[in-house]
Amino acid sequence: MPALAIDIGTYSIKAIAGSTGSAVHIKRVAEVFNSTGISVPTDDAASTKLAGIIQALMTDYGFVNEPVRLSLPETVVSTKVIAIPRLSDAELASAIGWQAEQHIPIPPEELSLEYQVLYRPGKKEDGLMRVLLVGVRKKVIEQYVSVFNQVGIEPELVETQMLSILRSLRFVSNDPTTLILHIGASTMNMAIMHQGELQFVLTHLNGGQLLTKTLEQKVGLDGAQAEQYKRTYGLDQRQFEGKVAAALLPAVQVLLTEAKKAVQFFVSQHPQNSVDRVVLSGGSAMLPELVGQVATEFGSEVLIAAPFASASGDVPEKINQPSMAVCMGLLAQES
Ligand SMILES: Nc1ncnc2c1ncn2[C@@H]1O[C@H](COP(=O)(O)OP(=O)(O)OP(=O)(O)O)[C@@H](O)[C@H]1O
Ligand SMILES: [Mg+2]
Repeated sequence: MPALAIDIGTYSIKAIAGSTGSAVHIKRVAEVFNSTGISVPTDDAASTKLAGIIQALMTDYGFVNEPVRLSLPETVVSTKVIAIPRLSDAELASAIGWQAEQHIPIPPEELSLEYQVLYRPGKKEDGLMRVLLVGVRKKVIEQYVSVFNQVGIEPELVETQMLSILRSLRFVSNDPTTLILHIGASTMNMAIMHQGELQFVLTHLNGGQLLTKTLEQKVGLDGAQAEQYKRTYGLDQRQFEGKVAAALLPAVQVLLTEAKKAVQFFVSQHPQNSVDRVVLSGGSAMLPELVGQVATEFGSEVLIAAPFASASGDVPEKINQPSMAVCMGLLAQES
């Protein structure tokens, strides 16, 4: 089945048209700058402006009939993994509202809730079952979807970013315990996968934008230059007398300190285990020498996400591949 996945990032809006399911065939990839700098509009003016950008994207790239799939930014979502005594599906369905009230800071009448059983012990086994809760304010979904309605789009699927990202990474149960760091422009989404199962999701309100701003201030560059220097030299000590690397490092540390907290939290809950691998995703994963820096700080294997690895079709040569993880994860969902 064909579909069009759209990811509204605060830096850029990405869209990929292709077939859906486990082996995505890519038809077209698009990326346009998001001049509003916001991903979820909170007023009509921003909503209209964003709708205008999406309309132009649809026309310019010839996207027409494909059903549209969307991902909500993790910043407006509450994603929790809870552990509770074993319940049947029916028991869980009636208990879930109460569970959500305990764990999701949104009043029940405003809450749109989805849940999924991650693990259920057998009837005679000890242990708790684990359930993923995803809560969003109904109003936020309405605002988000209304942007698309303005350009005549009625999305067929709306999920949350981390779920799209994780699907794009195609974890299997014998993968090493992995920290996923999806670093966009204004947010960093973090998750830990252990034995193929999501442990938790955390969001930090900083990303690549912080690095660019830091360069502007410390090296005295304008925005466009700073963006260019960041992408060209990054954390490479050998370039530009190491000045760019030195200026960027403290800002990168801000992000990595948050990431380490996520690891510590996991280890505090699983003292027998360690995080053995870090996967970098999002546009900022391409920062030169970030892989080396993360490997040094975490003492683990570090990989850059390759969301097109099992796809066929046309991938533009210049595209920042890890920044496309959300769209590819949306397409990877079976119709
Ligand atoms: N080669 C590169 N090296 C370093 N940073 C890069 C590179 N390419 C892109 N970036 C940075 O990646 C960020 C954009 O990534 P991405 O497209 O994932 O963000 P976004 O989805 O628009 O933002 P968000 O999800 O935070 O709202 C920008 O901050 C940009 O400067
Ligand atoms: Mg993003």
